[in-house]
Amino acid sequence: MSSSAAEAPGVGPSPTWAPPAGRSSTVCVVGSGGREHALALVLGRTAEVIVTPGNPGITGSTPEGHTITSVAAPAEDIEADLFVIGPEALLVDGLADRLRAQGKLVFGPGAAGARLEGSKAFMKEMLAEAGVPTARFGVFGDPVAAKAYLHTLTGPWVVKTDGLAAGKGVLVTGSLAEAEADIDAKLSGDAFGEAGRHVVVEEGLVGPECSLLVLCDGERLAALAPAQDFKRRDDFDHGPNTGGMGAYSPVAFVDDRMVRRLVTEAVAPLVAALRARGIEYRGVLYAGLMLTSDGPKVLEFNVRFGDPETQVVLPRYDGDLAALLAEVASGALTTVPRFLPDAAVCVVLASEGYPESPRTGDVINGLGDAAAVDGVTVFHAGTAVAASGPEGAVVTAGGRVLGITALGDTVDDARRRAYRAASAIKWPGIHRRSDIALSATVEPTPDASGVRDAGAKEEISQ
Ligand code: AMP
Ligand code: GLY
Repeated sequence: MSSSAAEAPGVGPSPTWAPPAGRSSTVCVVGSGGREHALALVLGRTAEVIVTPGNPGITGSTPEGHTITSVAAPAEDIEADLFVIGPEALLVDGLADRLRAQGKLVFGPGAAGARLEGSKAFMKEMLAEAGVPTARFGVFGDPVAAKAYLHTLTGPWVVKTDGLAAGKGVLVTGSLAEAEADIDAKLSGDAFGEAGRHVVVEEGLVGPECSLLVLCDGERLAALAPAQDFKRRDDFDHGPNTGGMGAYSPVAFVDDRMVRRLVTEAVAPLVAALRARGIEYRGVLYAGLMLTSDGPKVLEFNVRFGDPETQVVLPRYDGDLAALLAEVASGALTTVPRFLPDAAVCVVLASEGYPESPRTGDVINGLGDAAAVDGVTVFHAGTAVAASGPEGAVVTAGGRVLGITALGDTVDDARRRAYRAASAIKWPGIHRRSDIALSATVEPTPDASGVRDAGAKEEISQ
């Protein structure tokens, strides 16, 4: 495994990553969702894994013989050779900085880099500074000015909270009146509290979307396999935006050439602009992209692995993930990530009322039957062990409860397996989309840019 003790601006000297004599390396994953479950399982191929706080599905042993344990302890109190931080809120809050200050090897940006996700206004400013193509935008704290700008744009219209909103602070609408009402609701503080005190108003773009996760060791970049996420709650892209209702990988219309173009045009200039500000970014940059007839444009950057994209990208990783993330963390990225030819599809099972007010506390049935479907992994997210009732019963404890990932020879094959497993799981009010990855199984048609349209993208309105 590679190591580097080189001094990096803004990060300080890096501890080394090397398997200790006589024992396996230990990786600590921070978080409790489906993304962290997937990280733990794939890291567990080559390392011992501790997850804090974890969830009821995470603990166990991997087929490779490593142990995954959950502990309810602050990351600062855990001994591990590498720390991988999942959720954006912890990164924005400076957890990576605090762990680095303790001399720990950390995958994830410090607070300065995490501001890219903590403030959409900052992210858009950085994109403009770096010359990265993105939707035209304005940032406003005053509703009159925000609405005046709105009227200079042709629809669809987009209104975003500046601060963190768990993927739920974005309105895309074909109705000017709805966009105006949303500006009022967000800026009044009623809809999102402090996170909505400023809004980003931007032009609506049209085209197929993809999520590209790019590892960055501060300077060098390495793209992971592209994925496509389904953000709307209901079939055929209806209903409110969510954290993501499903995903698949690979994506036929994002071939290797397109990946290189996206890294060159969208990610590399941003990293250079961050470095120019003295920000050494070590972690993953998640580019949310739209392939418009005017070329690829960035919708957003996130500073952590996507959820549920991670649940389809990492199971396809063909290598030692712990060593790869350690290279990134120590500023010594040399590995070129390789992926299995298999396709992966993840279908999210959500609670009734998600995303506004998810109902919780329902007993989940069928977990064993779902996991028994060939090629399937059941990733836990919003689950808990029941406080009363049958011993060991698992209950719903959040909006997105489970992610059912299946690997298959093709997207269609993986999709069938994922849905077969998903249909085994039951609780009152369970909700899932029925069209995850469906667009990837039909023959696409070329669009004006030469990029192949994923289809099934319906009129944008809420
Ligand atoms: P974001 O959190 O900024 O990625 O936005 C969530 C989702 O809203 C994206 O995945 C898109 O589906 C949609 N969206 C965001 N910005 C735009 C835009 N400028 N034009 C069209 N759709 C958008
Ligand atoms: N799946 C969208 C996100 O992780 O933000």
